[in-house]
Amino acid sequence: MKKNKLFIFAALALMTGACDKNNTPAFVNGPDSEQPENNGGTGNQPAASSRNELYRPQIHFTPAKNWMNDPNGMVYADGVYHLYYQYNPQGNNWGNMSWGHAVSSDLVHWEEKPVAMVRNEWGDIFSGSAIVDTENKAGFGKNAILAFYTASGEHQQQCLAYSTDGGLTYTQYEGNPVVPNTTLPDFRDPKVVWHKESGKWIMCLALGWSTQIEFWGSSDLKHWEKLSTFTTDVARCNIGQWECPDLIRLPYKGGEKWVLIVSNNPGGPVGGSGTEYFVGDFDGKEFKAMDLDYPLWLDYGADNYAGVTWSNVPGNRTLFIGWMNNWNYAGDVPCAPWRSAMTLPRELSLRDINGSPVLVAPIVAELDGIAGEWQLLTDKMKDGSAYEAKMKANLSKNSTIRLENTFGEYVDIEIRPSTKAIVVKRSSSSGRIDFNSLFALPSIQAPINCDAGEMDMRIVVDASSMEIICGDGAVSLTNLVFPKEPYNMIRGVDNVEYRTLKSIW
Ligand code: FRU
Repeated sequence: MKKNKLFIFAALALMTGACDKNNTPAFVNGPDSEQPENNGGTGNQPAASSRNELYRPQIHFTPAKNWMNDPNGMVYADGVYHLYYQYNPQGNNWGNMSWGHAVSSDLVHWEEKPVAMVRNEWGDIFSGSAIVDTENKAGFGKNAILAFYTASGEHQQQCLAYSTDGGLTYTQYEGNPVVPNTTLPDFRDPKVVWHKESGKWIMCLALGWSTQIEFWGSSDLKHWEKLSTFTTDVARCNIGQWECPDLIRLPYKGGEKWVLIVSNNPGGPVGGSGTEYFVGDFDGKEFKAMDLDYPLWLDYGADNYAGVTWSNVPGNRTLFIGWMNNWNYAGDVPCAPWRSAMTLPRELSLRDINGSPVLVAPIVAELDGIAGEWQLLTDKMKDGSAYEAKMKANLSKNSTIRLENTFGEYVDIEIRPSTKAIVVKRSSSSGRIDFNSLFALPSIQAPINCDAGEMDMRIVVDASSMEIICGDGAVSLTNLVFPKEPYNMIRGVDNVEYRTLKSIW
């Protein structure tokens, strides 16, 4: 059973009232239970246009209703970005894990589709990835979409399903599981990536509390052999369990480096969930990390977890999206009838900062598509919509930037050049914090990765989130907040410009 054992066990116990003798979740509704429709405005779903409840994100993906966690199976195929996700088709708490599905042609507007895979005889459909089989290596047809996921039942095993209708529906491969397991308690979240030099597909798998990533290789996507195991002896990297790995190749200093992304819970930068990464080399078998100052965090905020990248993206872009929540309080965030949003998609690259590679993660440029004109902020933002603000933080002295709304709710961002830190204060003044004692975080810290006299900052504010991006993505802080209305004033810094962001619904 997964590592968030207590939380999930409690959630399941609440929902089902029962677990079987092996502590595996009892079926809430049997595997044959009817699958609810799940597209805006049909079946039991509210219309997409009604996504305007208090705290409902207007520019971030949320399912119309019900629980969502990790992004899964992200793949670009036939002009469409697919976003599958851990989804409970039957409720607003974790359970009945299935792959929900949404599609987009611009990474900003999302259309929810029917649930793509529901729990079956092998167990819950846990996290995983998808690829396009352009050479029909697996034999399900040229350009079939192949999804790899963890079936979580009595054991966590890796399974394959394929789609020949553009990612809408999936057929289970009859030879499942493709990577069987009856011994390891945590063995999950297959991320399949192409390694051109060896002509092999590589599957990265997380071993949870063992804080290890295994690499497996295959030529036909059905038969897999174990290649190696990666871990680290940096103790701070191993506080929590490792989940949702990704292995990406990025240009660096005229050559290239491989980046291993690992989600860590509860060893994140502010406790709870966080996404760390290692930079190094991968020879088709083994990943060797460079000697850097680990842990390195893809995001220093509290709410960017389980993120991985899209496969098959045109133009050599490396596109990432994370789950904008934290297992410390995810089950309690005061949202209904949906629970959880994704972060805005980020475009990843490696940048040399003071002689070391840093994974930079700015928000994708596609956000421009919903943005109005930049305007100087004189007093208040003109309307209550989501917006992006840009400013330059002065690094010659300590200062505090305050985002505030007309109810007097606020979040402070302290810029402390004296200690080279950015500190976000998500205290009781930020809005609702009462739903979970771990939510208020008075000191969410990130390094100032900038030697200039001032630091570019962009802040994207939605109904219940703030994404702070410094130095073109050199440092990001993604945090949930629950104010009565979005913060619409910014104080403590001169020459703030902002542009409104139009609702995607
Ligand atoms: C990460 C995770 C994954 C697992 C999924 C279950 O948040 O714990 O390891 O596959 O959630 O929903």
